[in-house]
Amino acid sequence: MTRICVALDVPWERALKIVRDLYDFFENYPLIMKIGHKIYLEKGGDAVRELKEEFPYEVFLDLKLHDIPSVVGLAVEEISNLGADYTTIHLLGGEAMVEEAVNRKENTKILGVSLLTSHDESYLGFLKTTIGDIKEFVLHLVKIGLDKGIDGIVCSGEEVEFLKKNLDRDFIAVVPGIRIKKQKGDQRRVLTPAEAKKRGADIIVIGREITESKNPVYVVERALKMMGEI
Ligand code: C5P
Repeated sequence: MTRICVALDVPWERALKIVRDLYDFFENYPLIMKIGHKIYLEKGGDAVRELKEEFPYEVFLDLKLHDIPSVVGLAVEEISNLGADYTTIHLLGGEAMVEEAVNRKENTKILGVSLLTSHDESYLGFLKTTIGDIKEFVLHLVKIGLDKGIDGIVCSGEEVEFLKKNLDRDFIAVVPGIRIKKQKGDQRRVLTPAEAKKRGADIIVIGREITESKNPVYVVERALKMMGEI
């Protein structure tokens, strides 16, 4: 099963309305609600608590942590206390940081972010790494992350198939950059839900196509149908 994660990068009240509307329709489908910096800065940890209290959905607190190991460890402890089901750390934070995050979590799954999709090969030059290929560099970071005990990764649709093929262990692949409508002239590298599922995505992240739609239920329904989930 490939699940849908709704990126709620909108004001809190609007986010709540979207989740309520979705819940009316998808009571039995395990959607995941993602809170990022926008809502976290507006509403704090209460956003996670309130969503968990009101709905049966898993909550993903996406803060992409990257700091010294002890600080990240303390943050992960608090995120676990809030009851978030998933959170993110930057694998570029290094082995000790990843290890500390994994050691401090309780029921929260740790997802590693390798390279942001806004980066390309020139970023590897900036880092002065000897690996010149983005996919190989991502594979290198993900291997280290999995060795240290992370539960999954956030990666692009370009990388997910390659990573699943080259890593002989189970991990959750979360793939953003999904578009239901492929817009004419849109040069960005995006995948449809069906393509992402085919390439091995376990969770797809859809943000603005849902949150900016007049009918979020329709968008989610369409994505689920495209993946053959309903
Ligand atoms: O569907 P849309 O483009 O609006 O999704 C944006 C969401 O995807 C944001 O919440 C952003 O944090 C997340 N994202 C991510 N990693 C990327 C690109 C986007 O987590 N590499």
